[in-house]
Amino acid sequence: MIWLLACSGQLTEDQLKDPQVCADCHPAHVEQWTGSMHAYAAEDPVFLAMNARGQEETDGALGDFCVQCHAPLAVMSGATTDGLNLDDVPENEKGVTCYFCHMVEDVTDDHNNPLVLAADTVMRGGIANPMDTSAHDSLGSGLHNRNNADSASMCGSCHDIVTPAGVHLERTFAEWKDSQYNADFSGLLQTCGSCHMQGYDGAASTEPDSPERRVHDHSMVGVDVALTEFDNIEEQTAAVQKALDTTLLASLDVVDNGASAVIELTLENTAAGHAFPSGATQDRRAWVEVKAWRDDELVFEDDTWWFGERMLDADGEEVHMFWEAASTEGELLYPPTSLTDESNHAVNTYLIDGGLPDRVEALVKIRPMHAEVLDDLVASGHLDPSIPEAMPTFELASSKVSWSVDD
Ligand code: HEC
Ligand code: HEC
Ligand code: HEC
Ligand code: HEC
Ligand code: HEC
Repeated sequence: MIWLLACSGQLTEDQLKDPQVCADCHPAHVEQWTGSMHAYAAEDPVFLAMNARGQEETDGALGDFCVQCHAPLAVMSGATTDGLNLDDVPENEKGVTCYFCHMVEDVTDDHNNPLVLAADTVMRGGIANPMDTSAHDSLGSGLHNRNNADSASMCGSCHDIVTPAGVHLERTFAEWKDSQYNADFSGLLQTCGSCHMQGYDGAASTEPDSPERRVHDHSMVGVDVALTEFDNIEEQTAAVQKALDTTLLASLDVVDNGASAVIELTLENTAAGHAFPSGATQDRRAWVEVKAWRDDELVFEDDTWWFGERMLDADGEEVHMFWEAASTEGELLYPPTSLTDESNHAVNTYLIDGGLPDRVEALVKIRPMHAEVLDDLVASGHLDPSIPEAMPTFELASSKVSWSVDD
């Protein structure tokens, strides 16, 4: 698209909304974003299935609640009011796009996407002294600079959900605010961007004379990966695995009680700036597998300790869809609240009959969405039966611990 440069005019609002237009000068950013969950947010088959079912079950009362975050530009332009017609919505208005993030000029609340976009064509970013370009005006903005605490509210206010029924269902931002990563508690600031947008040295644009800077990865992984054919799935999956591999710290102790033995397993969230898991905890399942052997025979096996949340309706019955929730319960692994806090350590004990085993192993696994929720959507006819099989299970390397009687 050399013509852009040739006519050297400013990009129009329509052009600025098209991520492919940015690829001329910001190819790495476009490449990374294209495989991200932000790009997938309005393609995600589970999202489409859940929104469709929600609209049916609430007789449309759900309205734009879901699409306000999964396709915010389409809601703003009026291209959709309920997310049921996303097939007909222009591609550039689906998902969390470059334009959406880079036009944010104000954050008015702490949940449900309260972001205000500027009514101009200036790209806001973390660079305080951007080089001039004919393509667009640029502006350094604290909301976009990961070294600034305000940037956590730009990301966080979309990553915190209060349902129409008033349940504070997804709380990533609230969890972060209470953690040591909020400088108010530790003096050491780590924002969402510090961990989710790895910095590397390079030019921010391919325009001639673009200076060497610290630029930032836009693949922004957590635990979810695309479940249908999508760009960069392998890279995204590998990056998720890498993040998960250093999230937890585990330690194992085995005590001889004569006739029985007690396994004590301690887990600690050392690297996630919020709970593990976080966000859609009502859909996630993380669990601990503990096994013990005596004389090479498996004598003990347990996978009942799990992390995540269950949603309950007003009668205390478990429900799977989030517009039905009146409350939640469950266990999450919280990050420390200060540099010396150890209250986040979670401990579980297991009793083995017949004395000491020879060997014990423990390990944490996570599935981004657990089978019950997906099967429920398949059963109601909203989700293709091939999707649940595509859901990966990750093992967390740093949670693997073992104990041997010889040690
Ligand atoms: C013709 C080339 C060109 C195109 C096309 C282009 N940009 Fe840029 N952009 C630049 C240059 C040059 C800079 C400044 C880089 C620097 O200072 O290191 C820049 C800077 C930025 C910044 C950083 C602003 C800051 O102050 O931190 C953002 C954000 C940005 N562009 C977004 C976009 C988006 C989104 C698109 C697509 C809609 C786009 N750009 C299209 C050339 C371009
Ligand atoms: C100290 C580093 C760190 C900070 C700060 C941090 N994160 Fe994370 N985040 C992680 C790691 C590591 C994972 C992967 C482990 C996990 O799933 O919790 C993760 C996972 C996630 C996930 C996947 C959800 C899940 O199931 O756990 C989301 C969404 C997320 N982060 C968003 C955010 C947002 C938004 C912020 C800022 C309010 C933030 N993160 C701050 C390290 C961080
Ligand atoms: C979820 C929000 C979000 C989306 C979506 C997003 N960006 Fe960014 N981008 C940021 C933030 C935040 C920064 C600043 C990071 C910092 O400086 O701490 C940034 C920085 C940049 C920069 C400045 C150089 C750098 O790496 O710091 C460019 C250029 C840029 N983005 C282009 C793009 C393009 C092009 C797209 C779409 C293909 C895009 N961004 C999508 C949030 C986003
Ligand atoms: C417009 C609202 C919005 C904003 C602003 C936003 N996000 Fe997101 N983010 C989403 C949505 C929606 C998804 C999930 C899409 C899906 O899986 O269907 C997501 C997914 C993610 C994931 C992957 C989660 C997982 O479970 O794997 C991470 C990590 C993440 N965002 C981090 C950030 C960071 C860092 C910022 C700020 C630079 C940010 N987000 C800004 C809406 C937003
Ligand atoms: C305030 C913004 C917001 C609203 C409102 C919202 N989402 Fe999301 N959604 C997110 C973010 C952020 C993620 C990223 C995953 C995470 O937090 O771990 C996400 C992830 C998802 C996912 C994929 C991850 C998973 O495992 O669940 C589905 C499916 C989903 N949302 C469905 C919905 C549906 C259906 C609605 C409406 C009933 C909805 N969302 C409303 C922000 C939002």
